Amino acid sequence: MQRPGILSDRHVSGLSVPPAVKQRVRAVVGERGWQTLRRTRRKVERRLAARSPQASKPIAKPGGVEAISDDLCKLARHYKTDKWGGHRYAQHYQRHLQHLKNERFNLLEIGIGGYSRAGQGGASLRMWKQFFPKAEIYGMDIQDKSFVDEDRITTFVGDQSDPDSLRAIAEKIGQLDVIIDDGSHRSPHVRTSFETLFPLLVDGGIYAVEDIQSSYWPEWMGSEDLNAPNTSMALLKGLADGLNYEEFVTEGYEPTYTDLNVVAVHFYHNLVIIEKGKNAEGTNKRRILKKRYGTAS
Ligand SMILES: C[S@@+](CC[C@H](N)C(=O)[O-])C[C@H]1O[C@@H](n2cnc3c(N)ncnc32)[C@H](O)[C@@H]1O
Repeated sequence: MQRPGILSDRHVSGLSVPPAVKQRVRAVVGERGWQTLRRTRRKVERRLAARSPQASKPIAKPGGVEAISDDLCKLARHYKTDKWGGHRYAQHYQRHLQHLKNERFNLLEIGIGGYSRAGQGGASLRMWKQFFPKAEIYGMDIQDKSFVDEDRITTFVGDQSDPDSLRAIAEKIGQLDVIIDDGSHRSPHVRTSFETLFPLLVDGGIYAVEDIQSSYWPEWMGSEDLNAPNTSMALLKGLADGLNYEEFVTEGYEPTYTDLNVVAVHFYHNLVIIEKGKNAEGTNKRRILKKRYGTAS
């Protein structure tokens, strides 16, 4: 069966090969060579499909897009963002953002898509707009993506590795309720964006970081060392410890901003979703650790 978004021989001009020729080539190159050729062909097909003017157009569905507006996985496929298919993120967003479905709020996504390709990108912003009928959707990208602007979608040009650029955009938006980092995926950039924007997120807000696999890749400014201190995963794993800061027994420990303002960190494959809120449930460590503290209080 043909996968959605992949063009068949009939659609990709110049790639159509008669069966007899295929058989002869297969006999000459052998089974391994044939499989390599097939993989290369699929890659070329995918690239051509992405470049075709059709690629940015939604797939028409019977009943229109309204029929799938409650299902983020289907919407992701419809608008062709890799949040479903390429990745498996849409299901997690569905769970963590469902409560905002009919709310008025602001969502900012870093990384609009299409990189420097003219007229490409905006898939996820369109998906968010459809899923959240009352939300204002904002996107920022290092490239100009203003062609994506329409009612309830506003784009900004900005560099997520530059705190001033991030702050200027945040100021223009006003209240930040949901922030999604799907930008450069370079650890230092992910960290700068989080450190700059998380304090600006509302209490009760959601901050998501996608594609954290790059945290393990030196080629993407990450590290193979799982304990390296400066990767995006190091930052995110630190938040998990911070959730329990009230249990730390280091004398004089001063809680950080995130210790005090992160109430949940959800780790999924290549995706982390952070919930902001007041983290102050209290501890019974003094009563339990009587020896260390001398008296129970
Ligand atoms: C993976 S794409 C975003 C895909 C889009 N969110 C979607 O789901 O359809 C990443 C985008 O991040 C942008 N980008 C790369 N480096 C950036 C930076 N330093 N600041 C802001 N955006 C950046 C790229 O231009 C590219 O368009």
